[in-house]
Amino acid sequence: MKISVGDVLEIKIEKMVAGGSGLSRHQNAVIFVPKSAPGDTLKVEITEAKKNFYFARILEILQPSAERRVAPCPYYSECGGCDWQHLEETSQLRIKQQLIRETFSKFLPGEFLPEFEIRPSPKSFRYRNRIQPKNQNSHFGFYAQGTHNLIEIEDCLITEEKLMSAWPQFKKEILDKKIPRGRYEFYLDENEEPRWYELGEEKDSQGFSQVNRFQNDNLILELLNYSQDFPQKPSRIIDLYAGAGNLSFPLSEAFKKTSVIAVEKHLGLAQLARKRAEMLKLSPKQFEVFCADVSLFMKRFLLQKNDLVILDPPRIGTEGLVMKALAAAEIPRFIYVSCNPVTWARDLKLFYDQAQLQGLKPRVEKLLALDMFPQTSHVELLSEVRIDS
Ligand SMILES: C[S@@+](CC[C@H](N)C(=O)[O-])C[C@H]1O[C@@H](n2cnc3c(N)ncnc32)[C@H](O)[C@@H]1O
Repeated sequence: MKISVGDVLEIKIEKMVAGGSGLSRHQNAVIFVPKSAPGDTLKVEITEAKKNFYFARILEILQPSAERRVAPCPYYSECGGCDWQHLEETSQLRIKQQLIRETFSKFLPGEFLPEFEIRPSPKSFRYRNRIQPKNQNSHFGFYAQGTHNLIEIEDCLITEEKLMSAWPQFKKEILDKKIPRGRYEFYLDENEEPRWYELGEEKDSQGFSQVNRFQNDNLILELLNYSQDFPQKPSRIIDLYAGAGNLSFPLSEAFKKTSVIAVEKHLGLAQLARKRAEMLKLSPKQFEVFCADVSLFMKRFLLQKNDLVILDPPRIGTEGLVMKALAAAEIPRFIYVSCNPVTWARDLKLFYDQAQLQGLKPRVEKLLALDMFPQTSHVELLSEVRIDS
């Protein structure tokens, strides 16, 4: 049967997939349905036809999955911000864990992955300290999924109260400036004061910071545990994709006698890290910041056997060259922090291929999933790769 855009079908959702949609196999066709749940029977309308698969939207839930709940947010059905609020929180965690395992096996079939825990976020709502609302004709909100249609909101349940309470004031300040449309970043600064600025064509975000400070504390704690649990003390710690030093400073504090080198390409973030190092009276030997592209840095920098390398790249992952350079350095381990299991597994595959060519035996020694982004399909990973020769 040929399926076309606009067709209405009755389908059953088999499972959730990376990216957050539910998957249905309907007469040999693969259909992805956002905001569906495993086991749902749905009446859907096909919205997009690709070469080998389709997208559809829910018209009616004929038989709801046992893992469904009524989403607490009143804007949920339209807003493109969260994609998993309709799933019970235990299901969100279970599915994230399962997708991590599946993704790893897809890229590295037959390779060992240890049993791992998924750590729930200390707060499953009101955890975000940074949001990017939009303004269209003086209405403020977020875009509907995959569109530029504004969904006007008064509250966002995953945003910290302190930031959300500034929403009316920020709206007023923006409208007083006679800005009828635009994109903004609303955030809590280091003193937890709400602030905003406009995002422009050329001036984009002031840079990365972890959005869930409650779970970020756990990430740091566990990273320190991973770093310290190794027979040899590192001679240097190289923090690649360091941002403003969220991970590098706690590492420097924990390994007082070890040089920390932070590599970050965003100038504003690199400058923030430098300022903080100065404030902490850390000498360049103790703490050095390179404002550089990691792949260029890796071309020139000579890694030593006893260096502890930490990578925390953006969602798109690292450049292939970085994984190859890491393998070539023949270091005994590295720590990979990731907010995207797909690029994490893809990068590890590159590393394994290269390392195996060199006769090395890499394996994921430790893995922890941290639910940094509850109510969404996103998840954070902390992993340690050990390399035996
Ligand atoms: C996921 S964030 C991690 C930041 C930091 N580790 C933290 O916990 O806050 C990734 C960082 O990598 C930086 N970045 C992205 N691509 C880069 C590249 N090619 N070279 C260097 N830094 C890069 C981004 O600016 C961002 O600060």
